[in-house]
Amino acid sequence: MNQIRDYRSDAATLPTFEMRQAMANAEVGDDFSGEDPTVRYLENMSAHMFGKEASLFVISGTMANQIAIMTATQHGDEVLVGEESHIYNMETGGLAALSGVQTRPLRSTEGQFDFQDVRRAIRKRGIQFPITKVLCLENTYDLNRGIPLSEEYMTEISILAHRHDLLVYLDGARIFNAVTALKVEPKIFCQGIDVMQFSLCKGLSAPVGCILLGSKDFIERARRIRQRIGGGMAQAGHMAATGIVALKTMIDRIQDDHLNAKRLAIGLANLNESLVDVEKTLTNIVQIDLKSIGKDAFYMDNALQAQGIKVKIIDSTTCRLVTHRGITDNDIDETIDVIKNILK
Ligand SMILES: Cc1ncc(COP(=O)(O)O)c(C=O)c1O
Repeated sequence: MNQIRDYRSDAATLPTFEMRQAMANAEVGDDFSGEDPTVRYLENMSAHMFGKEASLFVISGTMANQIAIMTATQHGDEVLVGEESHIYNMETGGLAALSGVQTRPLRSTEGQFDFQDVRRAIRKRGIQFPITKVLCLENTYDLNRGIPLSEEYMTEISILAHRHDLLVYLDGARIFNAVTALKVEPKIFCQGIDVMQFSLCKGLSAPVGCILLGSKDFIERARRIRQRIGGGMAQAGHMAATGIVALKTMIDRIQDDHLNAKRLAIGLANLNESLVDVEKTLTNIVQIDLKSIGKDAFYMDNALQAQGIKVKIIDSTTCRLVTHRGITDNDIDETIDVIKNILK
């Protein structure tokens, strides 16, 4: 193999020719003043797709997550988060640094919180207690396994949170992977969610960008916060144009990434069934567990890199491979062969 196969993240996807064309031809204006027609188009299209009143184009998923919590909370409030979630683990402590909130991590089983744990974690009202303001969901959940959370679960946990006056926030960076795996309608799937985001630059292949969605009032306030943290943009339509192409052309092909992930999981399980959980490989993320075969992830990473394959190390015995538009079924078969030789 002389070509690099980058399985570290689906953010490795490069923009398509049509996206580059759209960028070159985009009609743009001053987005600070709400005058960029391409940004408006992308925001309206996104809001319509998810049945939300309004949306805001931001640079990254991290920015969307942070703006959402800054908008929803005051310093000293408490936010319930998944213990394996991106917002809690991978955003340089942004919730504490930017929103000044206290985070309360919840255990999850295959991405789902226990309802009793959630009920217990929601604070009683009282002068000494922080106020629990937000329940943060993530779907697909868990960066390292990409588990889709079902529509029933999303609805029921939202009802529970709303009963206690919590805002339900969804980090849906990979919501289209969940929508594809579960064959659901985005609008119905996310109807219990108050505020959410999805990424344009992961499986959807745009070069940058993320959409934050919510009520009109929430998004207006979020727009001010985006400005405060330097996220206001001038002719952002050049980037938004790629997002429009992404939404129009890239959702249907996500299924291919899931088939490739399954192909990889099955191929690796055929080498040694303890390497992967084929049943739990449900979207585009394959987790390899090297513990039971006595190999370490750094050894595997080095050996793969020598063959032009990049993976992400999760811990000393675990690594993950993410499938995306830049990975073909042929790449998958060659990768299985490479791993077979490494494990010999
Ligand atoms: C679930 C999830 N949320 C948020 C993010 C952050 O997105 P970004 O890299 O665009 O900041 C990621 C990135 O991988 C993610 O996987």
